[in-house]
Amino acid sequence: MPKAPPASIRLQKVIAQAGLASRRRAEEMIRQGRVRVNGHLVTALGTTVDANHDDVVVDGRRLRRRAPMRYMILHKPTGCVTTADDEKGRPTVFDLLKRQPVRLFPVGRLDFNTEGLLLLTNDGPLANRLLHPRYGTPRVYLVRVNGTVAERDLETMRRGVDLPDGRTLPAQVHIVRRFEKTSWLRITLREGKNRQVHRMLEYCGGYGIRKLQRVGLGPLTLAGLAPGQFRFLDSFEVDRLYQACGLDKAAP
Ligand code: URA
Repeated sequence: MPKAPPASIRLQKVIAQAGLASRRRAEEMIRQGRVRVNGHLVTALGTTVDANHDDVVVDGRRLRRRAPMRYMILHKPTGCVTTADDEKGRPTVFDLLKRQPVRLFPVGRLDFNTEGLLLLTNDGPLANRLLHPRYGTPRVYLVRVNGTVAERDLETMRRGVDLPDGRTLPAQVHIVRRFEKTSWLRITLREGKNRQVHRMLEYCGGYGIRKLQRVGLGPLTLAGLAPGQFRFLDSFEVDRLYQACGLDKAAP
């Protein structure tokens, strides 16, 4: 199972993040011998601690450990739900992830029969941004449908269709390949309405969906992940996700 990256952070940053003092003031506290890590007095400023496990005490007060931020992508297979508990008792994506040191939440949902890229994180502000249509983070789907999709239907989906919960935003819709009885479409949406791809195709006369796969979310792709596999993002990928939805990483 992929391991979570280590959560090594400078001691003064941990104290500052706990809201006890500014980083400069926290450095003074360390130098003044007011800080203990796992029971040991620490006065060296370069000290880093594991934000998951180390016990930091300042002036006799134990800091509450803040859960470290984690970002994982899973290639969700078909045949499982994205929620933690299913009222019908069906398998869930959490059965695939086994035990994780911190609780992660899926960013949006994929249907039981949809496979593909699912981001899971405990970073609430980032998840909210990625889900909010105002920031228009692209979600890319490949979909195989029965029949040959008419050009006017592609155009209808591109312009937006009226659904009971509102009109869909303009989308990119292209035919990737045509076979005798089926077609592959590539659809890029900038919002995530419930079962949106299904409902857009239903609106256009109900091309039956044979396969639906999400292959991209913002800068992320499924590259290298087989169905059921997952991995943690590195800091470079997390930075790109932040940039993609215009969120300032330095913000608290
Ligand atoms: N659109 C759908 O219809 N289903 C999904 O799972 C995702 C997008």
